[in-house]
Amino acid sequence: MIEKGGYISDILQQEPGGRAVAHGWVKTRRDSKGVRFVQINDGSCFADLQVVLDADAFSEEALHHVTTGASVRVEGSLVESPGGGQRVELHASDLHVYGPSDPASYPLQKKGHTMEFLREIGHLRSRSNTFGAVFRVRNALARAIHSFFQRQGFLYVHTPILTASDCEGAGAMFGVTTLDLQNLPRKPEGPKAGSIDYGQDFFGKPAFLTVSGQLNAEIFALAFTNVYTFGPTFRAENSNTPRHLAEFWMIEPEMAFCDLQGDMQLAEKFLREVIAEVMETCAEDLEFFQKRIDSTVLATLENVVQSSFEHVTYTEAVALLEKSGNNWEFPVHWGSDLQSEHERYLTEQVFKKPVIVTDYPKEIKAFYMRANDDGRTVRAMDVLAPRIGEIIGGSQREERYDVLCQRIAENHLEESAYWWYLDLRRYGSVPHAGFGLGFERLMLYLTGMKNIRDVIPFPRTPGSADF
Ligand code: 4AD
Ligand code: MG
Repeated sequence: MIEKGGYISDILQQEPGGRAVAHGWVKTRRDSKGVRFVQINDGSCFADLQVVLDADAFSEEALHHVTTGASVRVEGSLVESPGGGQRVELHASDLHVYGPSDPASYPLQKKGHTMEFLREIGHLRSRSNTFGAVFRVRNALARAIHSFFQRQGFLYVHTPILTASDCEGAGAMFGVTTLDLQNLPRKPEGPKAGSIDYGQDFFGKPAFLTVSGQLNAEIFALAFTNVYTFGPTFRAENSNTPRHLAEFWMIEPEMAFCDLQGDMQLAEKFLREVIAEVMETCAEDLEFFQKRIDSTVLATLENVVQSSFEHVTYTEAVALLEKSGNNWEFPVHWGSDLQSEHERYLTEQVFKKPVIVTDYPKEIKAFYMRANDDGRTVRAMDVLAPRIGEIIGGSQREERYDVLCQRIAENHLEESAYWWYLDLRRYGSVPHAGFGLGFERLMLYLTGMKNIRDVIPFPRTPGSADF
């Protein structure tokens, strides 16, 4: 029979003197004269539970299988620990090994492994100290995000994963089809004779995995005022960088009766409050990141929670970059997109804190952003963070029907594909705004981890979709 409870975190909080049952996987085992000290963990918290096994009380056979990686159930009495490192330890009176683990071939050894190696054992890395901490923080962050929006009265909307529209207009979409790729149906006649006949595909037209839930979120914002999405998004960009995934999670609030100012206020309040909540709920895990991964992580988070973000326009940012005298790999001039090196210079060298850059040239931003009166820029805002670069991308949306039609044409998009999006501008249009936060980018910021592949359970990147 499997008892409910028995979590290591609960047991560590109990006072010595009681009886306890613990389940978990063996982290390490140390043999001393007549006693075996075994550290076990069930993933519930950072600290392991020390189990003390009296060699006389158990058969050789039973003790033999208590090795690193094995899964065990231990029952015993909780006593004050004489050794340092833990407050209590469990003196076992009953031991059961569910599944043994061959210590000679178990890939996860006590010695530190590289992150690259741990990625190759994605089915076991969650049992390591680092990944235990990463995924508890990830869980706490997801909860903090939902709780932030729910506190503010935002409606959680589930936007589709399968879609026929390209929200960002960047073309970096994964196609989804049930057509036989070895034998594609072709149009027999007409102006497009010979081209693929998507009329025979599952949806009767080309379909993709979504790059963003924003356009659907806008539909809901124009009915429920304040809404947010939180779901997976997919981008088939061939960027093999420590900041890009082909599958990542995005949080996208959208607010009706709101302009760029309100959008920026929400972004700042949001980041500040969710970071503060994770710092409170995951103190032990964050301490580990501070000690072992990045010694600046706590000071950085403290700084975000306490100070306000810097605001600059794109034009001001470009001027700062131009007069920096730096020899950029990607030269800067008005009209060029900001690259990671520029974003890092602004946040790390100039302002030493998160920076919100606004009013980008319309040529480098998506079609839906509201045009400014200067005819050159749009009401975009990107939140840039030290070390990470862009963490949030957002904007006020173009709510004027005629201007939106013009922007769709300028971007060589097909107006008919956006008929419903345009309809929102014909029936009860209002100023509205929103943003998208890259969940894994915020995870990088919170943990100090260096590579985005190490803050998502199962990373998907060009050439890699394992586990
Ligand atoms: O700036 P992006 O492309 O904005 C949008 O998709 C808008 N529709 C959002 C909106 O206004 N509702 O993406 C938003 C954020 C980026 O700032 C970045 O943090 C993250 O998503 N992101 C990625 N994260 C990981 N891997 C990738 N390949 C990413 N691409 C974008
Ligand atoms: Mg962006």
